[in-house]
Amino acid sequence: MSHAAPRRKPIPPARVDLRVRIGTLELKNPILTASGTFGYGDEYAHVVDLSTLGGVVTKTVTVKPRAGNAPTRIAETPGGMLNSIGLENVGLARFRDEKLPRLRVLKATVIASVGGETPEELETLLRALGREKGVGAFEVNFSCPNVAAGGARYWADPERLERTLARLKPLTDRPLIAKLSPDVTDIRETARACERGGADALTAVNTFVGLAIDLDAMRSRLGKATGGLSGPAVKPLALARCWEAAHAVRIPVLGSGGIASGRDALEFVAAGATAVQVGTATFVEPEAATRVLEEMREWLGAHGHARVTELIGAFRAEHAQEHAPATLAVEERS
Ligand SMILES: Cc1cc2nc3c(=O)[nH]c(=O)nc-3n(C[C@H](O)[C@H](O)[C@H](O)COP(=O)(O)O)c2cc1C
Repeated sequence: MSHAAPRRKPIPPARVDLRVRIGTLELKNPILTASGTFGYGDEYAHVVDLSTLGGVVTKTVTVKPRAGNAPTRIAETPGGMLNSIGLENVGLARFRDEKLPRLRVLKATVIASVGGETPEELETLLRALGREKGVGAFEVNFSCPNVAAGGARYWADPERLERTLARLKPLTDRPLIAKLSPDVTDIRETARACERGGADALTAVNTFVGLAIDLDAMRSRLGKATGGLSGPAVKPLALARCWEAAHAVRIPVLGSGGIASGRDALEFVAAGATAVQVGTATFVEPEAATRVLEEMREWLGAHGHARVTELIGAFRAEHAQEHAPATLAVEERS
């Protein structure tokens, strides 16, 4: 028996309504750049008109500038890459005084990514930036696999996530997006904890912890033993985590992991994502986010979808009862 949707009459791609909403923030389309893969955004302004994207998620910013990890920090792997950048960034003061003014001129919708080793550090960042002009939302990086302190393991504790978000929430009137690690036993638990703490949205997911060994030297191919795996290799893994997270909460979810085409992006949307982020694909092709956006628009037009929101969560697992109790929970509640 085929479950294919009936064919709709195609509509001109230019007429497809791509607007989506993340809390109080309206995005002109669902395509964003992923944190750490697009600099602070301004570095790419000569190749991409930032104002045409749904948003630019900046490199994660910490209170103090960070030099990041020792080299080697990147290793190519089949279908993907490992990185151990370790949150190299300019720090809060330079981000606010140099980067944000440039992004304002470029008319980008800015999602500022913030990271901290403790809840207090995140509070400091939100106190300083929480009402800053030109920041559309905050993505809190609860999931960096490459730092010794305040990384994905530290933030994998649902109670800590909930408590921290509850402390951050009053410090800003912009949406708070919690970025989750895929390396947990059950992403639905961390997702629900963030929702309880007051997160307006989630990003699922950050990179997966990975290891590549140079057998001849008998050492890691990175300066540090492990790194974060990203790129096409992780797409099915990320899509499954995104699907699980999206069905565990009522807040919007942003998909991330291996997205390199309009179809990839729409798979995440069908799995329940309201928006998506293009990351590693940008290293191969600087205009990747723009192409993904155009491909998405074309596909929606060709398939007769007047609005991208029609497709959010359109995928329904045939065996949801067996495999996704969270899906059932959502259906029971709604
Ligand atoms: C070189 C590199 C640096 C990254 N830096 C950050 C970062 O600073 N903050 C963050 O939240 N995610 C960071 N990420 C994770 C990406 O934002 C994205 O979630 C992940 O790479 C999966 O998407 P992709 O497969 O499209 O790259 C980084 C990824 C890469 C490859």
